Amino acid sequence: MGRKFANILETVGNTPVVKINRLAPAGINLFVKVEAFNPLGSVKDRLALGVIEDAERSGRLKPGQTVVEATSGNTGIGLAMVCAQKGYPLVVTMAETFSVERRRLMRFLGAKVVLTPAAQRGMGMVVKAIELAKTHGWFLTRQFENEANPDFHSQTTAREILDDFAGERLDYWVTGYGTGGTLKGVARVLAKERPDTKIIVCEPQDAQLLGSGIVQQRNPDGSPVTSHPAFKSHPMQGWTPDFIPKLTADAVDMGLISALLPISNEDAMRCSRELARKEGIFVGITSGATFAGGLRICREAPKGSTVLCMLPDTGERYLSTPLFADVTAEMTEEEQEISRSTPSARLGA
Ligand SMILES: Cc1ncc(COP(=O)(O)O)c(C=O)c1O
Repeated sequence: MGRKFANILETVGNTPVVKINRLAPAGINLFVKVEAFNPLGSVKDRLALGVIEDAERSGRLKPGQTVVEATSGNTGIGLAMVCAQKGYPLVVTMAETFSVERRRLMRFLGAKVVLTPAAQRGMGMVVKAIELAKTHGWFLTRQFENEANPDFHSQTTAREILDDFAGERLDYWVTGYGTGGTLKGVARVLAKERPDTKIIVCEPQDAQLLGSGIVQQRNPDGSPVTSHPAFKSHPMQGWTPDFIPKLTADAVDMGLISALLPISNEDAMRCSRELARKEGIFVGITSGATFAGGLRICREAPKGSTVLCMLPDTGERYLSTPLFADVTAEMTEEEQEISRSTPSARLGA
């Protein structure tokens, strides 16, 4: 049955929870929540809509005012959609290291993308966005500190999970963090309404900012003063910037987290590929990483447990990244052999 919407923004959220069949260990009910079903393909469509509509309600965002944000991509893509639909110009600052298709996508949606030097990492793009907002009087969405980000997750993502598991077990909820909006917004609702659900947080093995126990130095507005000493660059784009975001630290301070799991690059990539090849679920690197954490929980969990993993975005965003490194454009030896096995339409024959 089809559904009718007044505009594209009404299609944000209400993403499906899907059962894992071939990759789930026996005796465990493993589910994934596939955020790639959002209109622009990632969980960040929620943040974008939540933050812009909150700013409209409070009057901080005026009609036609330019919006500016520092983003590794998915937030920019979500904001570009929301700003396009609502008629706000958008400027995004982004470190030059992030995948090229992300920039092109944002520009296709009408945004301006200002690149910042790789050497200045996440901090560089944040400082640039703040400076641009101050200089030009633009509205800075402040995704890492803005409470409208977790609030929208409490109102949507968390409610969807409560509805989908009403009357059923939900023993573990597994996520990572980029801003911590998903984590803080969902975990605080689960803690209240499903106190038996354990909150599991994954982070890159090479950048265990939470795992290090080292506190992040902050400015009075919650933004980071410097890069975190435990940060090293990692391929899980969208996860764990080079500082602990305020919203993520809040989730720690509120005692919401039951366990932290470090995830290796290899496990993240392998799980993303396996989800595609064995379950037909096409998602990105942080989804693979979260799923790797979920599988580890499944191995330790008592039989009969139910585990839910968040899968933040679509795999289509990673064609130019290491995720596709061993996927060739030319025919493989095996494919050439299939071609040679019949006489018609053979390349170079
Ligand atoms: C690919 C990807 N995975 C995970 C996340 C984490 O989401 P959140 O910002 O809600 O912590 C993001 C966003 O930062 C993302 O872009």
